[in-house]
Amino acid sequence: MSGLKDLLRTENLSRADVELILATAADFATNPLKHSDSLAHKTVAIYMTKPSTRTRLASETAVAHLGGTPIFLRGDELQIGRGETIDDTARIISQFCSALIIRTYAQSDVDELGKHASIPVINALTDDDHPTQLLADWMVIREKFGKDIAGRKFVYVGDGNNVANAWLLMGATMGAHVVAATPNGKFAVDPAVIAKAQSIAKASGGKVETTHDAKAAAQGACVIYTDVWMSMGDSESERAEKIKALTPFMVNDELMALTAKDSIFMHCLPAHRGEEVAASVIDGEKSVVWREAYHRRTTIQALLYLLTRGELKGN
Ligand code: CP
Ligand code: NVA
Repeated sequence: MSGLKDLLRTENLSRADVELILATAADFATNPLKHSDSLAHKTVAIYMTKPSTRTRLASETAVAHLGGTPIFLRGDELQIGRGETIDDTARIISQFCSALIIRTYAQSDVDELGKHASIPVINALTDDDHPTQLLADWMVIREKFGKDIAGRKFVYVGDGNNVANAWLLMGATMGAHVVAATPNGKFAVDPAVIAKAQSIAKASGGKVETTHDAKAAAQGACVIYTDVWMSMGDSESERAEKIKALTPFMVNDELMALTAKDSIFMHCLPAHRGEEVAASVIDGEKSVVWREAYHRRTTIQALLYLLTRGELKGN
C-alpha cells in the first residue's frame, strides 16, 4: 500500500489529507450509512489501556456504520499484559482485523505497533498526542469559520499536555495562527513539539506561538480551547502543584470577554467545571463542546474509510 498506512501522530497528516478527511466526514454527517458495506464482514480492533467515553463510542459506532464489527480489547485482557511483545501482538491482530485503534500511555508503543502491524493503526490518544480529537475539532472550526482563516488566532489555554501538542501540530498543518498559553516550567509545551510545529508552519504559511500570559493570548482570539488539568496517567503527587500553577489559566467569563465577538469555546471533554473552565463558559452560548463530541464519530468513520482504502498520502 503506498501513501500513509497509519495515523500514529498528528504530524503524519498532510493538509490535503486533513481536507479529504473533513470532506468525507461531512458526507458521513449527512449520511451516516454512506459506504456502509466498506467494512462488511470485517473487524476492527479497539485496544485501550486508558478509560474512554467519546473515543470508544465514536470508534465502535463508526465501524458499525461502515458495516464492520468492532472488537473492544481492554489492556488487562490481552497477553500483552503478561509480557507478550508488542511485535507479536501486532502480527496477531493483523491476521484477524482490518484496522487497529489504540489508546495507551507511551507514544513509542503506538509507533511500535504501527511498525509491526500490516493493517492501519490509529492513535486514539497517548501521553503525547491525540490526533483523532483534532480532526473533530477542525470539523467544528470549519463549520463555524469556513475555509478562510486569515487573521484569526486559535488559542489553547492550560496544561501543556497531549491535546496542547496536537493543537499546535494540527493548527500548523492547517496554516493557522495557533497559540498555546501554558504555565512556565514543567507544565509548558515540550520544546521539541513547538519546534516541530514551527517547522510545519513555515511550509504551510501558519504561525505557532507560545506564551505564559493567558490574557494576552486571549485578546482577539477566535477560539479558546482548554483541557483537563490532570490527564490520565498524570502523577497524583503533582496534583496540588499543578492546580496552583494552572489556576491563572482557568477559562472564565473574564477571559472570554477579551476574545473576538464571534469567538467560540472548545474543550475535548471530559471537563471539570470550576477547574479548567467555569460552568458559565462551557454551558454558555459560545461553547461548541457537544458539536466537537458529535464529530468524533464522523471523523473516525472518515479516517477508517480512507486509511483502509489507502487513500491518504501522508507527508
Ligand atoms: N475527548 C476524548 O478523547 O474523550 P474520551 O476520553 O472520553 O474518549
Ligand atoms: N489530556 C487528557 C485528554 C482526555 C481526552 C488526558 O490525556 O487525559
